Amino acid sequence: MTENRESPNIDPSKYRQVLGHFPTGVVIVTAMTDDGPAGMAIGSFSSLSLDPAQVLYCPAKNSGSWAKLRTSPHFCVNVLAEDQEDVSRLFSTKNEDKFAELGWKRSANGSPLINGVLAYIDCTIANIVDGGDHDIVIGDVTDLAVTHEGAPLIFFRGGYGRVTF
Ligand SMILES: Cc1cc2nc3c(=O)[nH]c(=O)nc-3n(C[C@H](O)[C@H](O)[C@H](O)COP(=O)(O)O)c2cc1C
Repeated sequence: MTENRESPNIDPSKYRQVLGHFPTGVVIVTAMTDDGPAGMAIGSFSSLSLDPAQVLYCPAKNSGSWAKLRTSPHFCVNVLAEDQEDVSRLFSTKNEDKFAELGWKRSANGSPLINGVLAYIDCTIANIVDGGDHDIVIGDVTDLAVTHEGAPLIFFRGGYGRVTF
């Protein structure tokens, strides 16, 4: 199947530009590793399955942050609020100590739970599936809660935005 399918040459900048028209929320996926807390900003987060309760996200295979995150069997999805653009920017850098200036505590599974997020979803990695130059990480949900009622941070056309309800 994979060998025989057509693979037209899609220009990467056009791919980014067109796919950037699909708005996403922003989450910070965190984990506690033997070397301390790790985390990265993720737009490719999605709910997946209700029974069993599962979610997914897609880190780049060459991501240094993913290399750290995958050393832990657990992770926490932190759903950013509209006033947390600075947190998204912090976790999209290669900064070695993203947690130094940040307010956070440990979630039930021990992962960093960032202050002020709208909601969190604690997970245990169930499966890692090949997704081209990304991995697809499927997590079994072990704990979750809404922690603030508010509006989400949105990423659209390469920039940050907000929505009103
Ligand atoms: C809004 C937003 C969404 C992102 N979504 C993803 C994503 O889904 N997958 C991914 O691998 N990187 C994503 N990134 C990039 C990473 O957060 C980050 O830039 C990268 O992991 C840093 O490099 P490192 O992991 O090698 O340290 C996103 C960045 C931003 C700002």
